[in-house]
Amino acid sequence: MARRRNAGPDPATAPLPTGEEKTARVRAMFDTIAPRYDLMNRLMTFGLDQAWRRGAVAALALPAESIVLDLACGTGDLSRLALRRGYRVVGADLSAGMLSANGASTPLVEADGSRLPFADGAFAGVVCGYALRNFTDLAATLAECSRVLRPGGRLAVLEVDAPTSRLWRAGYDVWFNKAVPVLGGALSDRDAYRYLPRSVAYLPPAAELRRMLREAGFSAVGIRPLAGGLSQQIVATRAGTP
Ligand SMILES: C[S@@+](CC[C@H](N)C(=O)[O-])C[C@H]1O[C@@H](n2cnc3c(N)ncnc32)[C@H](O)[C@@H]1O
Repeated sequence: MARRRNAGPDPATAPLPTGEEKTARVRAMFDTIAPRYDLMNRLMTFGLDQAWRRGAVAALALPAESIVLDLACGTGDLSRLALRRGYRVVGADLSAGMLSANGASTPLVEADGSRLPFADGAFAGVVCGYALRNFTDLAATLAECSRVLRPGGRLAVLEVDAPTSRLWRAGYDVWFNKAVPVLGGALSDRDAYRYLPRSVAYLPPAAELRRMLREAGFSAVGIRPLAGGLSQQIVATRAGTP
């Protein structure tokens, strides 16, 4: 059996971290994988992620020049697409490593999504790609998204999902649980790419997520699967009169 390079709990079997431990581990993990993050994303999704990102930015449906926050912006894929649509974009992320690898020409802020350093109603839109399961306090982060949006502001989120078709699900399980960790080991960090498929367990079911979004101050919540459930798009409108 291959020996693991890093000491510490085995990410394939250790209980998933919570609280401050989760925040510290998530930050360290993204600092580590930042240099090869984009390459791994393209390989893991066969390049489909960019089409999903374009769809999420389009779902904001805001006028050009609107100010948009890319929350958990990482290397800036969503920011670049939002800039291309004519929005003014600010990126925020927990990981200094991901921010260093960010190639989008936007202001960048190192911040935890549950404590955003922005004024109430500062943004017309918030986009957030593949980060919900990484947030330590999801309810507090959704409340912050609502607070920094103006009434009528738009939220567009992408997250991984699980296919419902049995055949599709079997292929997905083999790819993400077996092949992706091997690919991650060869190109990036094996432990991180063993942890990522497990982190799906942090995601609340769709009904619970809808409830949390409404509780955070959103209306018109829509959740739809992409590519048979490989990914999902979540959109919502900040309640209140613009
Ligand atoms: C899977 S990456 C997604 C990056 C980018 N949004 C994308 O679509 O490629 C998740 C990002 O969430 C960030 N993140 C995790 N926890 C966070 C938190 N509590 N606050 C802000 N960003 C966080 C990570 O540093 C990482 O950049």
